[in-house]
Amino acid sequence: MQKIKQVTLFYEISQALNEHLDLKKSLYKVLDILSSSMEMDRGTVSILNPLRNEISIEVAHSLSPSTIERVKYKLGEGITGRVIQTGKPVTIPKISEEPDFLDRTAARKKGKGIKELSFICVPIKRGKQVIGALSVDCVYEKSNPLKEGQKLLSVVATMIAQHVVNLETIRREKEQLRDENKRLRGELENKYRITNIVGNSNKMREVYQMISQVCKSNATVLIRGESGTGKELVANSVHYNSHRAKSPFVKVNCAAIPANLIESELFGHEKGAFTGAIKQKLGKFELAHKGTIFLDEIGSIGLDVQANLLRVLQEKEFERVGGQRTLKVDVRIVAATNKNLELAVEEGTFRGDLYYRLNVFPIYMPPLRERKTDILLLSDYFLEKYAKENDKEIKRFSTPAIDMLMAYHWPGNVRELENCIERSVLLCDGGVVHSYHLPPTLQTGTESDTLPELSMEDAVASLEREMIVDALKNTRGNITMAAQVLKTTVRKFSYKAKRYGIHYSHYR
Ligand SMILES: Nc1ncnc2c1ncn2[C@@H]1O[C@H](COP(=O)(O)OP(=O)(O)OP(=O)(O)O)[C@@H](O)[C@H]1O
Ligand SMILES: [Mg+2]
Repeated sequence: MQKIKQVTLFYEISQALNEHLDLKKSLYKVLDILSSSMEMDRGTVSILNPLRNEISIEVAHSLSPSTIERVKYKLGEGITGRVIQTGKPVTIPKISEEPDFLDRTAARKKGKGIKELSFICVPIKRGKQVIGALSVDCVYEKSNPLKEGQKLLSVVATMIAQHVVNLETIRREKEQLRDENKRLRGELENKYRITNIVGNSNKMREVYQMISQVCKSNATVLIRGESGTGKELVANSVHYNSHRAKSPFVKVNCAAIPANLIESELFGHEKGAFTGAIKQKLGKFELAHKGTIFLDEIGSIGLDVQANLLRVLQEKEFERVGGQRTLKVDVRIVAATNKNLELAVEEGTFRGDLYYRLNVFPIYMPPLRERKTDILLLSDYFLEKYAKENDKEIKRFSTPAIDMLMAYHWPGNVRELENCIERSVLLCDGGVVHSYHLPPTLQTGTESDTLPELSMEDAVASLEREMIVDALKNTRGNITMAAQVLKTTVRKFSYKAKRYGIHYSHYR
């Protein structure tokens, strides 16, 4: 077979393998491709059941389901049994001359006028362990290069094995994570309902622990953390797990309200208090009476409002803008910020006394890059959510896509991950989200907002450069080993390193 034809064949097979979550469907497709490109009569994938030492046909081209069901081999029995037992491929040029050929499936007619068949059978291995065999029949021809067919089939068998392993690993990992999340939630649900927060990492467990410690009290809670880490979810959780759950939960985004209106927004105003105040208005504090007020982005309020806020925190009392009467409220305060309040205090833009009042019980939300184990779980959660929302049957991520999600540093945290999965669901038109459905920022691993438009050449060059530097770091500047790590030759490695101006001696 010509090289180019072979490459096309492998490409089609790898696509077929990635297309379905269902291993059987993928394998049928692979056999279809083999049959149309190898002039192969019949293809079979057999799998060994290691417990019973029995070999059964997993999928077979042009065999009836009942035959597939019926036919079983013992380990070592027949050609397939031998291949699986020894782990060595077998090629039989003419099956009519082979006494070991059992033809259990009785699919091959004998007699005059029927063409002589050749049979190639190669093992499917996971590491050293043989898990099954792939075999094909092809019409015997003297000129037919069977050795080449055997080689080609061995490559296909490797691809299948890799796929089986990948599917299994992903399935197992997911199951473990799901179970763990369920168990954890179940555990907490007995006492508290931590709803809609996904994550099993130790850092998130600490967060759940903190929520459960503080929610039942009336203590002020300050939620800290980078943008997109889930601060609002935590605020919700604190309220809905408190005794105030049935009373109002009032949210105020302090950054979204113009400075001149925030005071009236929080404390309300009397009719005629200022131009535009055509009637009395209740403030958020009054509306939150008996419940919780969530002051989001508290770092962005001005100093004059800070003074009034401090008074509410200390005395639980305030006046409406333009009003004389002092109002008393029973409100629990939860605040959030992604700003460095300590620095703001030092710089004089945030009152120290207010800071101490707020910082009674801080909960720190860890950035996503510090809890990589949550990435897969969150990705799955969002995949399910958006697939449902968009009425799509998307079941999983391809292995390269998972690698990419795991490798990225997520400067925008969970919000960025959520957007990224939503986008990939929109782009995806099959059952699997592939790496090319993910945004370009993940492909190069550079920060989203600082990323200049890269050409393909530049992106490849930067990736190559990164890989070379990494390999040199890991091998302490040993070029031979570094080249090995990258599965390339020393000659190519040094050529590229030189091109990128990388000096080995820096890594020794
Ligand atoms: N642990 C999580 N599980 C599920 N969804 C999450 C989690 N963390 C964040 N999200 C989702 O990510 C998005 C951003 O979260 P959220 O609005 O709570 O972030 P934030 O910390 O308040 O960010 P900002 O500081 O920018 O306001 C939301 O859609 C939220 O539902
Ligand atoms: Mg927020």
